[in-house]
Amino acid sequence: MKGLIAYSSLTGNTAKLADRLAAGLADLGDWTLADIKKGADASGYDCILAGGWIDRAWPDKAAKAWIEDLPADLPLGIFVTMGALPESPHGDRVKENLASLLASHGTALGMAVLPGVVEAKLLDRVRQMPAHLLGENGESIKQQMVEAGEQSRMPTEEEYQAGVQVFREAIQGWLDQKGDLQ
Ligand SMILES: Cc1cc2nc3c(=O)[nH]c(=O)nc-3n(C[C@H](O)[C@H](O)[C@H](O)COP(=O)(O)O)c2cc1C
Repeated sequence: MKGLIAYSSLTGNTAKLADRLAAGLADLGDWTLADIKKGADASGYDCILAGGWIDRAWPDKAAKAWIEDLPADLPLGIFVTMGALPESPHGDRVKENLASLLASHGTALGMAVLPGVVEAKLLDRVRQMPAHLLGENGESIKQQMVEAGEQSRMPTEEEYQAGVQVFREAIQGWLDQKGDLQ
């Protein structure tokens, strides 16, 4: 099985998750890691794990566009890192959005949504942002963004392992099913 792990990462959180997935799934196939922004080509692979960082509850623009361009018959899993905690209302929105991206693929290999540290420079920019730019409830939205950023963190070892496990089970299930059909 030839798999591609393609990712987009601004500050390293998602790149690290991509590395962890490649290491954790190594026994299931032959994996290639590729940076979407440097031009990742999905042709010739049996399955794809695509990753990005979360921006306004969606994978970042580069990752989202790349995912949307994938052929629908290619088995796909999606992994992301986000500044807010995955177990939050914002995390639920992210999961709904990822599910909608997976829905157009015949074989969906699931999703891994992990926390990621918000870079200090970005957090400073949010702190300095005039609240009215964020709309009617600007002040409370800004406060939520600052708090989420201050509480942001690296994934724990267990969270990395759980991410690996999601894809391990889905890929094994897909390979078993494929084997039955042959
Ligand atoms: C411009 C920008 C917008 C962001 N928007 C969100 C967001 O809507 N929700 C969220 O949870 N995190 C948001 N984040 C935080 C990142 O998704 C998070 O820190 C992620 O782990 C970064 O991944 P990377 O290190 O691979 O770039 C944003 C970060 C940036 C730079």
